[in-house]
Amino acid sequence: MNAIAPRLLAWFEHHGRHDLPWQDPRTPYRVWLSEIMLQQTQVRTVIPYFERFVAALPTLPDLAAAPLDAVLGLWSGLGYYSRARNLHRAAGLCVEHHGGDLPRDADALAALPGIGRSTAAAILAQAWGDRHAILDGNVKRVLARFHGVDGWPGSTAVQALLWRHAEAQTPDRRVADYTQAIMDLGATVCTRARPTCLTCPLAEDCVARREDRTRELPAAKPA
Ligand code: ADE
Repeated sequence: MNAIAPRLLAWFEHHGRHDLPWQDPRTPYRVWLSEIMLQQTQVRTVIPYFERFVAALPTLPDLAAAPLDAVLGLWSGLGYYSRARNLHRAAGLCVEHHGGDLPRDADALAALPGIGRSTAAAILAQAWGDRHAILDGNVKRVLARFHGVDGWPGSTAVQALLWRHAEAQTPDRRVADYTQAIMDLGATVCTRARPTCLTCPLAEDCVARREDRTRELPAAKPA
């Protein structure tokens, strides 16, 4: 296998994002909140909302005990308000069933409202360093290009293939850094419209780059 992790981790030392507010202190609650905010919103926009939110509700039990209106108020301006409702419901479930903490288990996390398979994996990888593959929109793009995966990533078959690549590429060590690094690469280098392959640590072995197909991959949804 053509391993991504060593090159990506070396790149991450100098070019990844190390000063994000949810990285210090990196508690499960803060990582979870950041991942939910980042699902549909860019890092730059999320940062001030995140800081305001954790200042008002510093722990998961604080969130669970807060009135929904207060949570929606803190979310006001971020959009996609179902995220805030799900967050509040999930916090209540964690207090009820998991002793006021997030469960350290992918299936239990993914059973909570607003947390899918990739978000569960991102939380476990970043909060505890547990080895779980992630596959969000940025990672799909990086892997589809690197491995030359044809077809629309929303289809079941392509999605399954991308999950297999994601699983195979995830290293045994430094999983938290790897997870952040591949998301950062997708957000800053392997961008949708203007990938900057000249600065990409993976360019040498990237199928899309070699075949001059970065514009075509990942493929758009069929009409
Ligand atoms: N998108 C989703 N999670 C992210 C993270 N941890 N860093 C940057 N972008 C993200």
